Amino acid sequence: MKNLGYEIKGFDHCEFYVGNAKQASHFYKQTLGFEIIAYRGLETGSREKVSYVLNQDKINFVLTSPLKRESSIGMHINVHGDGIRDVAFEVNDAKAAWKNSVDRGAKSIQKPKEISDPMGFVIVSAVATFGDTIHSFIERKNYSGPFLPGYETVNPKKKKANSLHHIDHIVGNQAEGQMIPVCNFYEKVFNWQRFWSVDDKDINTDYSSLRSIVMANENQKVKMPINEPAKGKRKSQIQEFIDYYESAGIQHLALSTNNILETVKNFKSNGVEFLNTPKFYYENLESRVGKIDENIDELSKYGILVDSDENGYLLQIFTKPLQDRPTLFFEIIQRKGSSSFGKGNFKALFQSIEKEQLKRGNL
Ligand code: FE2
Repeated sequence: MKNLGYEIKGFDHCEFYVGNAKQASHFYKQTLGFEIIAYRGLETGSREKVSYVLNQDKINFVLTSPLKRESSIGMHINVHGDGIRDVAFEVNDAKAAWKNSVDRGAKSIQKPKEISDPMGFVIVSAVATFGDTIHSFIERKNYSGPFLPGYETVNPKKKKANSLHHIDHIVGNQAEGQMIPVCNFYEKVFNWQRFWSVDDKDINTDYSSLRSIVMANENQKVKMPINEPAKGKRKSQIQEFIDYYESAGIQHLALSTNNILETVKNFKSNGVEFLNTPKFYYENLESRVGKIDENIDELSKYGILVDSDENGYLLQIFTKPLQDRPTLFFEIIQRKGSSSFGKGNFKALFQSIEKEQLKRGNL
């Protein structure tokens, strides 16, 4: 950002704190097609924690577990269960990003530091955001290794057809009344803009209701919808998240594909559980969203949702929660012109989520 003195280029990676990184990395590899490209742990001299780096095209996840009892990672898992600790951004200048953010009121988590290995050096820094979530700034222009210094290469990156390509957006759930303060934080600290929003008049079923504002950085490569529960007849799904995560936190990651039908077909056969879409959703679909390239029976078979705006349409589907607590889940999205967020699908989606909430006794 010209007026900030640094630029956020895009999402760099997400770090998950999990109870058993070895097994979790296997899950993401076998079901969602990620490749384990790098590792650090006892064998590489990391005595306190172990991490596996999962890659799929431009998407990088780091799954980290503690190796000792006295660990802030263990505390995080104790409070939140498995979840996302760090939404890291790639920046052109990690020192300027940190200084500017702290000067504008962010709490420092990591002062800028240089880490290096024979493939070059990286400068990293970090600030706090909502709940226990942080944003790291990664300046990697002087580094040629597969991920970050300190990791040992496991497998080279490889491109696969019909897979996931990049992070489309990352959603943060807030407690009631906290959406506006958190959006103000992104505006003030990072100079982001409001990109899109929905309120509870757009989205409420008999039970659930939510408000959402999408914040975006200057080049719009980073989009973060910020949600809060709104009053409905019964408990909002956002409130269920807050209750089980025990704070604000990351609710879902939307991952983009160029062929959602093939991708979802593969993931389902690998055992990924998706939310079901009621059959009536597909009645008169084209009269709601206009002409689409896909076969509607095929979309219905896999439960894929469609929404459109003046620029085109998008296809999307949501997984069930990826861990025992009803917290983090993924969205698979294919955009065909539309840059919005599926407002027309919220109702169908909520009805489906609420069926699952009812089964969990949390509605
Ligand atoms: Fe989403």
